[in-house]
Amino acid sequence: MSGAQPKAAKIAGAVSITAEVDLSRITTRHRQGWVDIVTSDMGEVVEIAKKALAAGDNTAIAYHGNIVDLLEYLAEKEVKIDLLSDQTSCHVVYDGGYCPQGLSFAERTRLLAENRDRFRDLVNKSLRRHYQVIKKLSEQGSYFFDYGNAFLKAVFDAGVIEVARNGVDEKDGFIYPSYFEDLMGPIFDYGYGPFRWVCLSGKSEDLDRTDRAAMSCIDPERRAEDRDNYTWIRDAKKNNLVVGSQARILYSDAKGRTAIALKFNKLVRKGEIGPVMLGRDHHDPGGTDSPFRETANIKDGSNVCADMAVHCFAGNAARGMSMVALHNGGGTGIGKAINGGFGMVLDGSRQVDDILRSAMSWDVMGGVARRNWARNPNAMEVAMEYNRNNINGDQITIPFQADQSLVDRATEELFNNR
Ligand SMILES: NC(=O)c1ccc[n+]([C@@H]2O[C@H](COP(=O)([O-])OP(=O)(O)OC[C@H]3O[C@@H](n4cnc5c(N)ncnc54)[C@H](O)[C@@H]3O)[C@@H](O)[C@H]2O)c1
Repeated sequence: MSGAQPKAAKIAGAVSITAEVDLSRITTRHRQGWVDIVTSDMGEVVEIAKKALAAGDNTAIAYHGNIVDLLEYLAEKEVKIDLLSDQTSCHVVYDGGYCPQGLSFAERTRLLAENRDRFRDLVNKSLRRHYQVIKKLSEQGSYFFDYGNAFLKAVFDAGVIEVARNGVDEKDGFIYPSYFEDLMGPIFDYGYGPFRWVCLSGKSEDLDRTDRAAMSCIDPERRAEDRDNYTWIRDAKKNNLVVGSQARILYSDAKGRTAIALKFNKLVRKGEIGPVMLGRDHHDPGGTDSPFRETANIKDGSNVCADMAVHCFAGNAARGMSMVALHNGGGTGIGKAINGGFGMVLDGSRQVDDILRSAMSWDVMGGVARRNWARNPNAMEVAMEYNRNNINGDQITIPFQADQSLVDRATEELFNNR
């Protein structure tokens, strides 16, 4: 339980149930006010959820126990779940990321240290049951999606071949959509991703000031994403999202990030706020090559290359970002993704303005260009708009849309002539 799910559900006005085997995680989130009610009684979970639904209360319930037990109980009781996902750490499924059914958190930790083979067997058994109950709940009307935690891959590796879309291997994805295919891909195509900043003064007034500044840079009428972002940043303080540093995350595109960054730097220059550090998640349009997640909706075959993250990293370095990073892993696991990241300190100087003007868009538009080359319609739209607005600057090549029937005919002739 990272806390993101109950918090997000609450903001969206939903009743949520989050299972967690490690009580200390729940206690932290309960103390922070991100979870409303904690219980280890499955009957109580259902009772509270039903009451909250009837009253229209967006209650966040934490169930202390194993998710497979809870789902089996809910399936048996035919409790209707609208949206269902999993956020156990399946990218390190045999290293403790997933707690097998039948073991408490303490038992899982002990077994992991003493007998890894037995632990692995229990994980596989649990994942197989986990899949069966998800199948049952889906048949009962739940919409299940993979959260980008390699859950479906782990299920496949545990021996459930039928979860593969082609019934043979994982090459063509899985029978349930990944959140990336269904939700995030088209948004990344526009260039939106989790841009973020930290007020280095540590003052909450500075964060309030940056919230207002960011809000003034968003036109809520531009796209649906901007409408959501506007509401998000407007209500950020009220939603009590800060748990440590005075930091904020805001999904934004290249144009938005540049405008916000320049505005912040101006505030620093005028002495209205202290210095600000900009950054973003590795989970972003331009910085990450990860065929099971960030680049899952790039269908031209280039999604297995690692060039985009490297270009992003090198370009950010050349353009003068304060900190650049190139690393492996990043959520889907070592060997499955490569990430180029940055950090940029806004000190109010004019030099930083110049860096922001060239680097902020480089960091994002590489990802948009790549998606545009793969002929993703939203990315093509953004790339063409970029070219129009940048007539004397750099331009993105736009792919030629071939008539598919001609391509098919040519391919057929080629095979026939062999
Ligand atoms: N799509 C995204 O944007 C996104 C964002 C963050 C993380 N992730 C992925 O989600 C996964 C989890 O990330 P995290 O940072 O929350 O990791 P985490 O390890 O902090 O949290 C996972 C939690 O699951 C609990 N857990 C494990 N097995 C359980 C079980 N059977 N029943 C109940 N609880 C169980 C663990 O105790 C742990 O607290 C990772 O694979 C990560 O890559 C995806």
